[in-house]
Amino acid sequence: MTAPLIEFRAVARVYGEGETEVRALDGVDLRIGKGEFVAVMGPSGSGKSTAMNIIGCLDRPSGGEYLFDGVAVQDLSPDARALLRRHYLGFVFQGFNLLPRTTALENVELPLIYKGVPGAERKARALAALAKVGLQGRERHDPSQLSGGQQQRVAIARALASSPMVILADEPTGNLDSHRSHEILTLLQELNRTEGITIVMVTHEADIAAYASRLVVFTDGRITRDEPALRQSEAAQ
Ligand SMILES: Nc1ncnc2c1ncn2[C@@H]1O[C@H](COP(=O)(O)OP(=O)(O)OP(=O)(O)O)[C@@H](O)[C@H]1O
Ligand SMILES: [Mg+2]
Repeated sequence: MTAPLIEFRAVARVYGEGETEVRALDGVDLRIGKGEFVAVMGPSGSGKSTAMNIIGCLDRPSGGEYLFDGVAVQDLSPDARALLRRHYLGFVFQGFNLLPRTTALENVELPLIYKGVPGAERKARALAALAKVGLQGRERHDPSQLSGGQQQRVAIARALASSPMVILADEPTGNLDSHRSHEILTLLQELNRTEGITIVMVTHEADIAAYASRLVVFTDGRITRDEPALRQSEAAQ
């Protein structure tokens, strides 16, 4: 087997110390190959977001190793980690905010600027991504003029437009109605299948997890289940 794209080797993450110490991740081993679509589930506080932050190079393990495409992320400089994020990762995180006082269109274009995509193509791709998430007519609004669900859709469009190697989504449909949630998941599934984008998605909903091909369950900072997920398309047959 070739090196996995994402690899945790006995990853631990401890917050605080002494009496307030919280062992958010407690020796997690995980390997995710290129092109996988993984759903992450588990109770509140089980370490899902902590793991996503580490995968996204937003946080570092307190113990163990995280390798991205075979490279030990903790050995990289902050600049190199920022480059890795910018070029390879797309985030749909609730806390990962859009730029304020910046239109939806500009927010979606931003990662494409960093990637060096020329102006006209950049705009076309950003507009298409915004249309895909149902935000036509809202392109010139800035985040303060959009609802929470709409802001989340801008974040999804931003991830879609830049065709990253990996999309990390932490409860991407948390603020969306059921119809819109399924539309977004169909889109993610399409990106995974046609462009081979690796997707890691945290969700609390089994019918959302069913779009993934693999289900990983966290309990108390450890992985307690790791199994194939029943594809939504198969579930419907
Ligand atoms: N910055 C922090 N400082 C201290 N403790 C933290 C911090 N972030 C998370 N924790 C703790 O680490 C544990 C894991 O948190 P995490 O956010 O990973 O859970 P989660 O599985 O994403 O939960 P949820 O489903 O509620 O989002 C929790 O006990 C949480 O209180
Ligand atoms: Mg969380």
